[in-house]
Amino acid sequence: MIIRTEDLSVYYGYKNILKDVNVTFEKNKITAIIGPSGCGKTTFLKSLNRTIEEYGGKTEGNIYLNNEDIMNIPVQKLRNRIGMVFQTPVVFPFSIYKNMTYAPIYYGERNSQKLKETALKYLKIAGLYEEVKGDLDMQATKLSGGQQQRLVIARCLTVNPEVILLDEPCSALDIKNTANIESMLLELKKDYTIIIVTHNLAQAKRIADYVIYMEDGTVVEMGKTDDIFDCPLDSRTKEYITYMKN
Ligand SMILES: Nc1ncnc2c1ncn2[C@@H]1O[C@H](COP(=O)(O)OP(=O)(O)O)[C@@H](O)[C@H]1O
Ligand SMILES: [Mg+2]
Repeated sequence: MIIRTEDLSVYYGYKNILKDVNVTFEKNKITAIIGPSGCGKTTFLKSLNRTIEEYGGKTEGNIYLNNEDIMNIPVQKLRNRIGMVFQTPVVFPFSIYKNMTYAPIYYGERNSQKLKETALKYLKIAGLYEEVKGDLDMQATKLSGGQQQRLVIARCLTVNPEVILLDEPCSALDIKNTANIESMLLELKKDYTIIIVTHNLAQAKRIADYVIYMEDGTVVEMGKTDDIFDCPLDSRTKEYITYMKN
């Protein structure tokens, strides 16, 4: 187990968005979070690395990363250890290469050979290298949506995260780009822990080891992917899965 939440509640002003969430995430596994729109999936992801605070959210309860209370970890360090990728890729308005070296330079790396090694290594891991190797000086904003999403993931890897949070990363992508991201995630889980929000149940089935079903700010059910899809214990999970299938 790498992450554990203990009675996690989140408030926006007086609005109680998450209610006593108790879940665990296993290391080197992919966990998919599913549930109706507005149930708190994004809020939950944002609370795991405290980005929620940037949006004015307040949390109660505890979150542990490797048994360490995240409130005891300097926030920038925490956000490196638990990286987040949003639905719409946010590439920096620089070259592909500069996107990849931005964080390492920020953290003090000055050796250009080392910077290059890092950039190429993670572009390869993200399955983007072959497509962009001749265009590393091209503006990253000129890449296709699917390539930008893979670049953002590659860039997130340059700060050595342990956990990667992905919020509906494929919702704007076509089948081919979605397949690319999925195979990349299956590769990445060997070295990272992955938590992905998806509204695509077929995607959860294809790549997730565990599934969390949320409704109205609470976790209804969590289990192995096959168990959740084939024999959910809670009628609400069953209803949602049946509804989404049709
Ligand atoms: N910054 C915010 N301020 C106030 N309410 C918010 C904010 N962000 C989200 N919410 C509310 O929190 C609830 C959960 O939203 P969200 O976590 O985005 O759900 P999901 O990702 O499951 O669609 C929604 O009712 C939404 O309106
Ligand atoms: Mg959301």
